[in-house]
Amino acid sequence: MSITSVVGLQWGDEAKGKIVDLLTDEHQIVVRYQGGNNAGHTVMFQGETYKLSLLPTGILRPGVTSIIGPGVVVNPQALLKEMQGLIDRGLPVAQNLLVSDRAHVIFPYHMQEEAVLEKSRGASAIGTTMRGIGTCYRDKVGRSHAIRVGDLYHTDSFRQRLFEIVAFKNRVLAALDPEMPPADADRIFADYTEYAKRLKPHVVDTTSFLHKAVAAKRNILFEGAQGTLLDIDHGTFPYVTSSNASAAGIHTGSGVPERSIDRMIGVAKAYTTRVGGGPFPTELDNEIGQRIREVGREYGTVTGRPRRCGWFDAVATAYSARICGVDCVSLMLLDVLSGLDEVCVCEAYEINGERTTDFPAHIEDLQLAKPILRRIKGWKEDITGARKPSDLPSGARAYVDAISEILDRPIDIVSVGPDRAQTIMMK
Ligand code: GDP
Ligand code: IMO
Ligand code: MG
Repeated sequence: MSITSVVGLQWGDEAKGKIVDLLTDEHQIVVRYQGGNNAGHTVMFQGETYKLSLLPTGILRPGVTSIIGPGVVVNPQALLKEMQGLIDRGLPVAQNLLVSDRAHVIFPYHMQEEAVLEKSRGASAIGTTMRGIGTCYRDKVGRSHAIRVGDLYHTDSFRQRLFEIVAFKNRVLAALDPEMPPADADRIFADYTEYAKRLKPHVVDTTSFLHKAVAAKRNILFEGAQGTLLDIDHGTFPYVTSSNASAAGIHTGSGVPERSIDRMIGVAKAYTTRVGGGPFPTELDNEIGQRIREVGREYGTVTGRPRRCGWFDAVATAYSARICGVDCVSLMLLDVLSGLDEVCVCEAYEINGERTTDFPAHIEDLQLAKPILRRIKGWKEDITGARKPSDLPSGARAYVDAISEILDRPIDIVSVGPDRAQTIMMK
């Protein structure tokens, strides 16, 4: 039996989707445990590109059970649309998707509240995906206004609670933005009753299902969304998402104890990207950053926004690796750096004249951090055809080795292109 976890070590979009897809061959169950349809995981599978948002990547394999766990926030309309999109492309989604009855539900008023909140922050907006993620998680933690997937099937109490919540939300929305049209409780009730009906065959107690799967020694793969630096507790607060996007979320979000996990794989890009606001010490607001953005096609999978690009930040990534307790790292998109005269890794920060390798807790300290860079001679060769370690030019090898040394973790996988085949197993 093997239970594996794949978790992002940066600010999301580390190419987790590609690694999860690769590993799915060895697993019977793939579990999403946090986040929602703010995620965008790209998989190139049998010559086709799939962009998965709420559905676990395992959904692309008919023999694999895909689970949306209790810690996920579910927009049922978005879920049904995503399922239909795959069915239209000839993939049978029906039998093997399970959705936790404990997962929380995103309602239209969550998106409305988020729009008002983000607008009110002006220049310091978080730059969220506007999917109602943070506002739904806030209601979950606040309890009074939360509705879980299982609640949708208790029609009378669901209706009563929904009407109470919508009345409250409309008072708040009207006070914050008089131009915002009020939420319509009758309409929401009708829509969500219909969504619930369509999702019914998938809704189960996934916690109990997973406990039985662990006992039966089935191979399970946990698919993280976002990345550790976006984690609500350990990330660059408040420029984070509202869930535990580090490995800390696996236990709470799935009900499977972390001690059951045999292998923790951290995924990192060979450079750094970030979408939305917040500090980013190694950001390259110059030609090199622009070049990385164009070569790496660094535009958001979900929102299409240009991603901010910068050098590999080994201080931040080492911090994430420690938070998650990763056994090894998958280093992705190395091909994007080919052709640069010099490639750099941030090995320490200078903050107020002091050198440190600690990742600051406060964003104002992180904003002051000047990256101390290790400079490595670049390589000119196109490496997208490399398939084994010896195919990599010495510059690329030196770069991978430097990152491994600073992170103090082995780099077991190097990715040199989006396709499955463009992967180098380093061991
Ligand atoms: P995720 O959210 O972590 O799954 O990552 P995204 O899918 O949002 O972004 C990763 C992007 O990089 C996708 O467009 C992938 O197809 C692409 N990709 C994955 N691995 C590689 C690679 O090694 N090289 C290149 N050039 N692109 C890659
Ligand atoms: P995947 O799974 C990159 C970012 C948003 C914003 C912040 C909060 O594809 O790696 P939210 O809507 O979650 O409240 O937004 O988090 N963000 C992501 N950035 N990849 C993601 O997911 C992200 N999901 C959220 O851009 O800065
Ligand atoms: Mg993504």
